[in-house]
Amino acid sequence: MKFQAVKGTRDFYPEDMAIRNWITEAWRRVSLRNGFEEYDGPILELLDLYRAKSGEGIVSELFHLTDRGDRELAIRPEMTPTLARMINARAGALPRPIKWFSMPRLCRAERPQRGRLREFFQWNIDIVGLDDAVTDAECIFVALDFFREIGLTPADMVMKVNCRALLAALLSARGFAPPRHAAIFAVLDKRDKLPPEAFAEAVEKVCASAGERETLISISQARGTEGLEIVARAAAGDARAESSLARLRSVLDLLHRMEVGEYCSFDMGVVRGLAYYTGTVFEGFGRGGFSRAICGGGRYDQLLESLGGPPMSGVGFGTSDVVIQELLEELGRIPSQARTTRRTEVFLIDAAPEMFDAVLVLAARLRRRGVGAEFSYRRQSLGKQLKQASAAGALRVVIVGEEYKARGHLVVKDMASGRQQEIPADAFCENPCM
Ligand code: HAM
Repeated sequence: MKFQAVKGTRDFYPEDMAIRNWITEAWRRVSLRNGFEEYDGPILELLDLYRAKSGEGIVSELFHLTDRGDRELAIRPEMTPTLARMINARAGALPRPIKWFSMPRLCRAERPQRGRLREFFQWNIDIVGLDDAVTDAECIFVALDFFREIGLTPADMVMKVNCRALLAALLSARGFAPPRHAAIFAVLDKRDKLPPEAFAEAVEKVCASAGERETLISISQARGTEGLEIVARAAAGDARAESSLARLRSVLDLLHRMEVGEYCSFDMGVVRGLAYYTGTVFEGFGRGGFSRAICGGGRYDQLLESLGGPPMSGVGFGTSDVVIQELLEELGRIPSQARTTRRTEVFLIDAAPEMFDAVLVLAARLRRRGVGAEFSYRRQSLGKQLKQASAAGALRVVIVGEEYKARGHLVVKDMASGRQQEIPADAFCENPCM
């Protein structure tokens, strides 16, 4: 019987692993240069951790199991509840604001489709312990710092920004009582995920009348500078709506001052699917054919407290290797270095089998110095060894032959230029870049 990888999961052959590493190395580089510390948690959590606050959407999408002690466990579908649990356990001792990042492997039992798999790696950036527009802007900046790092410009992607508290205030003012908001947000989040008829049907279900339906659709359609002005007129005189709008404006203004404003745009239709978001919310989208969100996040005011911790507000986002690779492939922008599977700087070749001992010694010396060195495991012709060196992508080939026997010299060939020179072996091992 032949086995295949489970649907929605991936095998990472060396060429796939190279791209995954290229992405995760950029995540780590960008996190560190923005002042974030790395953490991780377990792949299994108690199912109740997600039942408590993530919302129906994610709970219906998770893989769960019962252990031998009858405990209901879940494979983590997201990182934020784990982050909240870990911070809560040490809340008193952690200097604030807490700026943490992580790159967990997550599983969601959703239907595999373009940009959405059942197992993926998700980069998480979170700032906890300070509720201020500058931390909202900082999180969005970090996401954009990464997208810019991998070559995406405002022509390739957009970061849509909104504020759930603003939407909630506008809805309340129009007769949508707060207990109805969670269901309304869940429907609005599906705007771009459902076909138009299915979306219209879902809207119908959360509205009591045609008037309500129209109000809801028209509020959620506000976008861009013009939309912001429409919202400003709608918010006038309502203290909660006005203060949420001021916060949103201030986040957008900070992003402009941080020189990423061109990527950002206000969009009242962005509400996010997870239940715990309370304030600023944002989602990134490619401008091409790839329609799923490429990143998403927001502010959560009550999550930590609802999981037994102190009242601490946080803001953060997640993005996955799957969506990034899909988008870059669509744009034809995966650089060749992202596909490099091995780092063979030097390939040592014996011109005759009796030189093989010297090849072993030289390879060991180079490797000790941190140089990527390889040699053929079979004694074969110079031509065949050269072929192997070129298949390994070696930068330089070193021939150990007569020159070595006679004078301790190596023949070093630069594979890119074809230039060949004779170099004393000791000098080459000291400085193999010559
Ligand atoms: P999320 O919107 O569920 O948020 O996921 C964030 C991002 O993870 C998505 O925009 C997408 O790039 C990626 N993603 C989600 N599901 C999949 C999937 N099945 N396959 C591939 N990629 C996927 C959260 O998870 C929040 N916990 C993020 C967060 C961190 N909020 C605050 N801090």
